[in-house]
Amino acid sequence: MADSVSTPVKLAERVERISVSATFAVVQEATRLRAQGVDLVDFGPGEPDFPTPDHIKQAAVRALEENFTKYTPAAGTAELRQAVCDCHARELGSRYQPAECIITVGGKHGLFCALSSLVERDQPVLIPAPYWVTFPEIVRYLGGRPVFVPTDEASGFRLTAAELERSWVEGTRVVIVNSPANPSGAVTNAEEFERILDLCRRRDALLLSDECYSHFVYDGAPFSIASLPETKSSVIICGSLSKTFAMTGWRVGYTLAPEPIVKAMTRLQSHSTSNPTSIAQKAAVAALRGPMDTVKEMLAEYTRRRDSVITGLNQIPHLRCTEPQGAFYAYPNVSEWMERKGVASTIDLAQRLLAEARVAVVPGQAFGTAHHFRLSYATSMERIQEGLRRLYTFFSA
Ligand SMILES: Cc1ncc(COP(=O)(O)O)c(C=O)c1O
Repeated sequence: MADSVSTPVKLAERVERISVSATFAVVQEATRLRAQGVDLVDFGPGEPDFPTPDHIKQAAVRALEENFTKYTPAAGTAELRQAVCDCHARELGSRYQPAECIITVGGKHGLFCALSSLVERDQPVLIPAPYWVTFPEIVRYLGGRPVFVPTDEASGFRLTAAELERSWVEGTRVVIVNSPANPSGAVTNAEEFERILDLCRRRDALLLSDECYSHFVYDGAPFSIASLPETKSSVIICGSLSKTFAMTGWRVGYTLAPEPIVKAMTRLQSHSTSNPTSIAQKAAVAALRGPMDTVKEMLAEYTRRRDSVITGLNQIPHLRCTEPQGAFYAYPNVSEWMERKGVASTIDLAQRLLAEARVAVVPGQAFGTAHHFRLSYATSMERIQEGLRRLYTFFSA
């Protein structure tokens, strides 16, 4: 029954600044069709299709049995902060101390707390495009101003220092770099990263490096800008266990940063989430200290799928796709097809793909480009082949 007296809801202006992405309608429609039992090929989800490895799950079971079920320190347990520093040193060559580390509720909340600690109202934050949708939304929420840095598709969307310099805006104090990148799979190499950092330093800006996909690099070894000597004072590393260890639901991430930033983030966390889940923290220690073979197996499988997906996409008429060097996304260009068919937006395209081909993808508009869609190949080879067949038929018509 409706209330006889109702209080008008006036939402705070800051929350009105952020939106549920325009792509949500496509996701909702895909969910509705799946619930009806429609045979969809779902290239949407940005999460590994592998289970969390057993030794990680067992550590969580042990945590429960040992009643490790209470609040932990706001910045995470000392044990896990040390494990993050040790793992980052071993895998990526950095030298952090636990005082420079905070455990967060997923990588996303690390980004949220780090940017909250740094971005002032109206301050520009440089974000290379195509970008992961959450970067500009957090900046907007904080009252900052996202400034997009176009990257060159012919170079696989790999950000260069020259591109960054061209887009530089007076007053920038934070630059976000995401390598390997979502949605393009672009990987910034060590030399270019160093040039980017050098530019940031000359302009008194911090480089926030989102390393969420650090372990999924196809050619060459994973790289962290924090591995270079004397970079730590200008760098913030936001990492996550979500993709590396197939732990998206556990919600464990971390930030490595200069101590004053970690302290500020800890204050924020202490008054918001209190701390990441105790049980998940125990599981995270097992992940970081345990064998890395499942990570290697996932990488080998993603490589196989990447090769199939890119070959398949580039055989489809009116479609071309740069080769991702990391992560597990392909970002094909459909400008030729859109022009031929008079389709104005990739949201329309994604809706047609759902309705006519029964294939779910994410429209490129969500990532700041007008003529692409994102396809996640974190799904089985069999589904990939079926999806490619459907895409071929759709775009050939
Ligand atoms: C680029 C990027 N950064 C960070 C995240 C955050 O992941 P999580 O919050 O699960 O750690 C994601 C998740 O999709 C991502 O794509």
